[in-house]
Amino acid sequence: MIVTTKELFKHAYGKYAIGAYNINNMEQCMGLFRGNIASKAPFIIQISKGARSYTHKLMLEGIIRAADQIFPEAVFAVHLDHGDEESCMDCINSGFYSSVMIDASSKPFEENVAITKRVVEAAHAKGLVVEAELGQLGGVEEHVKVSEADAKLTNPEDAEKFVKATGCDSLACAIGTSHGAFKFTGTQGLHFDVLTEIQNRLPGFPLVMHGSSSVPQDEVRRINIAGGKLAGAKGVDADQFLPAAKLGVTKINIDTDGRLVWCRVHREHFILKPEDFDLRPAGKEFMAAYADFIADKNVKLGSAGQLDAVREACKK
Ligand code: G3H
Ligand code: 13P
Ligand code: ZN
Repeated sequence: MIVTTKELFKHAYGKYAIGAYNINNMEQCMGLFRGNIASKAPFIIQISKGARSYTHKLMLEGIIRAADQIFPEAVFAVHLDHGDEESCMDCINSGFYSSVMIDASSKPFEENVAITKRVVEAAHAKGLVVEAELGQLGGVEEHVKVSEADAKLTNPEDAEKFVKATGCDSLACAIGTSHGAFKFTGTQGLHFDVLTEIQNRLPGFPLVMHGSSSVPQDEVRRINIAGGKLAGAKGVDADQFLPAAKLGVTKINIDTDGRLVWCRVHREHFILKPEDFDLRPAGKEFMAAYADFIADKNVKLGSAGQLDAVREACKK
């Protein structure tokens, strides 16, 4: 059942966070559904602009529609990740997505407000909800690298002004995380002080934490043993998800970790079976490993076990 992120947030706010997982292909989609059903969790499927153009924008849509039929008990939102105005409008008019993210965070404040407002107006007219972003995360995204020096934490006062001026439904805040596998190269960590102040100014308003992969050290070690070169990769401590959820973080974005699982499974598979050239055995291993990863992550997010209650809440 496809729902909006707003419906999911209403149930989760202040108690737990919903996992927002990026997918690019059928194997990720299958592992994602299996892991969420096994752990009885509602979830958000995120599709980036890059994922939409990897094959064709209709391809993932078809795969997700099929998964919805295969797993009729699933409750999830379909969300455009880091959209620009053009991709947001395309998704809003597609009739398939239930929410979009407009990321105009690299623009000056007033321009971000103006662009976000236009997207909110178009989305709300069609029953979709909008995530916007204020502040700037570090790391790599869509081949754009933002250095640690250029990353900007969200200013709580501006966050309040921004939400009131745009009418957006949730806000991605920069609180110290970054995209990719190399977070926290220095001594920095999550800025709970900034988060607390944002929540004080916007009580009950859903916040989003991007760049939240944990970069499990065991995955990194196994990838490196199997020929990878990911020295120094580091992520967010998953034990910080629930404290963040209590401060209004209702959506936690995880993409890099899924890529690491994919990389580890395939590197190990072809090293252990050098005679193998069939894609299906490795693909099956990946789907099972990704499903296990998702189920574990949902326990850390607190979303595991919430599926039946969320389904009931969404029917009301
Ligand atoms: O925040 C960005 C996501 O990790 C998506 O990455 O644009 O390479 O698909 P991508
Ligand atoms: P990671 O790179 O930490 O997985 O973040 C993903 C993300 O924020 C997608 O929008
Ligand atoms: Zn992101």
